[in-house]
Amino acid sequence: MYVCSCFGITEQQVKQHADGGACTPRQIASACKAGTDCGSCVRRIQAILGRGACPRRELADRGQPALAELEDAA
Ligand code: FES
Repeated sequence: MYVCSCFGITEQQVKQHADGGACTPRQIASACKAGTDCGSCVRRIQAILGRGACPRRELADRGQPALAELEDAA
């Protein structure tokens, strides 16, 4: 299923980039451009990253503010 229809990036591709070390939507964007056109997929990318694709999720699990990521992406 496509996450970013502007660039045809699938959820699987986002997860692969996350495995490769991209932990924020911005890093995903620099890896594959997803989120750099209309921006409507950024929240979906954040959701994928928040589902455990990225090691940083542990921070959120420990109760640290995950919303910092939103500000980072803005
Ligand atoms: S759907 Fe990803 S930038 Fe438009």
